[in-house]
Amino acid sequence: MNRLLKLPSVRQALRLHCYAYSTMTDHAIAPPVPPPEPGTGINAGTGTAPADSISAVAPTTTSPVPAKKYGKVVLAPMVRSGQLATRLLSLKYGADIVWGPETIDKSLIGCERVENPVTGCVDYMRTGLIFRACPSREKSKFIFQMGTAAPDTAVAAAKIVAQDVSGIDVNSGCPKPFSTHAGMGAALLKDIPRLLSILNALVAEVGLSTPYALPISVKIRLLPTVEETHALVTSLCKTGISKLTLHCRTPPMRPRERAIRDALAGAAAICKEAGVEFFVNGDIKGWDDAQEVIKEYNIDGGAMIAIAAESNPSCFIPNHLGGPKPWREVVTEYVRIAMSVENPISNTKFCLLNMVPGKNEMHKILSRAKTYRDICKALEIECTFPEELDLGTLKTQRVRAQEEKEAVLQAERDERQKKLAEFKRKKAGEKEESNKRIKMDEDSGERSNVNNNPVGAAVAELAATDILVPAEAVRAVV
Ligand SMILES: Cc1cc2nc3c(=O)[nH]c(=O)nc-3n(C[C@H](O)[C@H](O)[C@H](O)COP(=O)(O)O)c2cc1C
Repeated sequence: MNRLLKLPSVRQALRLHCYAYSTMTDHAIAPPVPPPEPGTGINAGTGTAPADSISAVAPTTTSPVPAKKYGKVVLAPMVRSGQLATRLLSLKYGADIVWGPETIDKSLIGCERVENPVTGCVDYMRTGLIFRACPSREKSKFIFQMGTAAPDTAVAAAKIVAQDVSGIDVNSGCPKPFSTHAGMGAALLKDIPRLLSILNALVAEVGLSTPYALPISVKIRLLPTVEETHALVTSLCKTGISKLTLHCRTPPMRPRERAIRDALAGAAAICKEAGVEFFVNGDIKGWDDAQEVIKEYNIDGGAMIAIAAESNPSCFIPNHLGGPKPWREVVTEYVRIAMSVENPISNTKFCLLNMVPGKNEMHKILSRAKTYRDICKALEIECTFPEELDLGTLKTQRVRAQEEKEAVLQAERDERQKKLAEFKRKKAGEKEESNKRIKMDEDSGERSNVNNNPVGAAVAELAATDILVPAEAVRAVV
């Protein structure tokens, strides 16, 4: 009886909650179905919906109402804003798929994969954290986006993350110099053979027909003309990719400029014909807006949202299920999730400040926060973030190991310095002694040949002590 009454822990509750969200296939119509097998969820045919109203509106399995299909609505890849906590919150609010922020393929090569048994997250570490995922909470809906300029590094990076993701996307649209100068992002739109070779290699090496079984996708921007854009989409579809996202802006266009939709219907039709799932991106404000665009342009796959989701991840909730939630509720939920995955405080703050209206007093308060304790106090919620981590007194295992290694190296350096100092002292004493003797010899008109080669003698003596000292240093003291 006691066991039956036991309340779930915050984490268990969260997991149950996420499970509920991930089980809907049609808004307020379909009954819950089992969660998708890892690696298959992303390829499911219909969009999902937030489960806020599951109990209120989901009919029984005998319901005569035919299931209504909706296009998928997905979270766009966003550097900084699309880190793990934002992805989990977007999934909670009903995003069908979440793209991760662009990660450069070369930065992954050589990374160590570290599992965190407390949070269930997986960190890809180099000198610092390169990328964090949470396979138990997002894997079946998570697409890893990479920045790449070459097939071999793209494939190598994809194999490294394969076990923790459900798809690999190539960024072929980022116009920022940090991407394009290295031949990545929008630079690939000017070197289409290279882009095609990258996608071909990914499909062949880690694609659906390989043991990795990963759907490969690409995100592009518009080319200068509709015809060029359609020709590009046609070529891309021939590589064997599973999904294609068209950001309806050209590379030079600014994020706030209105998206151009004249190539949209044609691109969607080309993808449909080729069996490639098509996503529209650009200026989509939320779930209902997404469905209108999907319908108008006859889009098979769905719509991708960036800026609107950055400022309110609950934009994935349809109006008929209550629509987007007020910022206060959203940020509270965001902070809870961020704490549960030990999201770096700097990223949490950055994302929060995008969600809280700039004119609100809370924006000022949060911009001054330094710890999760400060944030929770401001929002009047319980702080579950470990105190030692929050105050920086608890080091992660890796940081501790690094510090221990550094301490051993430092001790060795100190020991060498000590020996060298002793050696210098001894030599100085000997030199003084020798000078005295020479002086005495000179005085007595006779030269000793004991110190004819003082450097050689000193090096021989040092060799016996294991001290590695450059010959110049020895010369300096003898
Ligand atoms: C903060 C931020 C970071 C972004 N980072 C990426 C990225 O890593 N990869 C990418 O392909 N696009 C990136 N984008 C572009 C978006 O994915 C998206 O294509 C663009 O914002 C248009 O969508 P929207 O009109 O819904 O904002 C980023 C956009 C923003 C606002």
